[in-house]
Amino acid sequence: MNYFRQNIEKAKGYEPGFQPRQTDVVKLNTNENPYPPSPAVTKVLAKITPEQLRRYPDPLGDQFRQAAAEVNGVQPDYIMCCNGGDELLSIAFRAFCDENRPVAYPVPTYSLYPVLANLLPCRAIEIPFDDEFNLPAKLIGTNAALTIICNPNAPSGTFISTAELASLADELTGILLIDEAYVDFAQANCANMVKDFDNVIILRSMSKGYSLAGLRFGYAIAPPTLIAGLMKLKDSYNVDTISVAVATAAIKDQQYFKQNVDKIKKSREELTEQLRALKFEVLKSSSNFVLAKSKNRNAGDIYDKLVQRNIYIRFFNLPGLDDKLRITIGTKEQNDILLSALKDILSE
Ligand SMILES: Cc1ncc(COP(=O)(O)O)c(C=O)c1O
Repeated sequence: MNYFRQNIEKAKGYEPGFQPRQTDVVKLNTNENPYPPSPAVTKVLAKITPEQLRRYPDPLGDQFRQAAAEVNGVQPDYIMCCNGGDELLSIAFRAFCDENRPVAYPVPTYSLYPVLANLLPCRAIEIPFDDEFNLPAKLIGTNAALTIICNPNAPSGTFISTAELASLADELTGILLIDEAYVDFAQANCANMVKDFDNVIILRSMSKGYSLAGLRFGYAIAPPTLIAGLMKLKDSYNVDTISVAVATAAIKDQQYFKQNVDKIKKSREELTEQLRALKFEVLKSSSNFVLAKSKNRNAGDIYDKLVQRNIYIRFFNLPGLDDKLRITIGTKEQNDILLSALKDILSE
């Protein structure tokens, strides 16, 4: 018997990056932060009591909303806590899209968007980026109910200016969701746009800049009317007591966060230069990863040879990406191991 809806039966589902079981590997494949979270996180974790776990959590995570509002210069009613940024994407698709209300986004980009469109289902209008990953003009005029711009984009790492996104928000007739999962590593962000536009939602993640990928915590910044609407679709208790306490401690420690992010940005510039010296074409990245195009060697082969050496990066066997490798910025030691393996492989 087939009990599933037809599109679910046919769907492949999202394929997450490989999570190796061993710990003695160089893992640069899923854009995690190579450094630990703030020491404030460890302190808060140690203080969680069984009594706190006996009770349901605060349904809105107000402690976090207050802290995130301060960091982003908005009021707490502009913030919604989510079980990872991915939950916000899932909520937004369900809130704005259906068979007659398509989603639009430039490609290549985060591969979860088409998966979510397919699960609803809704039509996905995919507009190709040019080679430099500029904002495609054709996004205006799609009449999509939801337009998503991943900024910085994954997997290119490229950045679209806040001015360009503001003028896009102005032109669109539907919602503009700016996926800022990687914005902690970028030169600017769009948080201020939520004060000027009634159709803008910003996605933030605690997984990257705050080193909390295992916690599953993200949040939306949006005008209060949109936040109130989005909240109707979330699980009643979508963020738990532990994660609210931990995420709050992490976002409050802006000094640690900035130091951590600065280290990664410095390593990103070094790794970019070193990869270019090995004759890779590397796009300027505003993220915690780089996309490197191999001019002379098959990217899939390089990937396989790195796996044999217990070094994991990301290879997408997809049009436009199958000659490229996405490499998460690691510690200096991890980056050096990768570079020395690449030198070996390229000289074979
Ligand atoms: C572009 C993009 N958006 C959103 C997310 C969601 O992040 P999380 O659910 O870990 O907060 C990710 C995760 O890798 C991502 O790459």
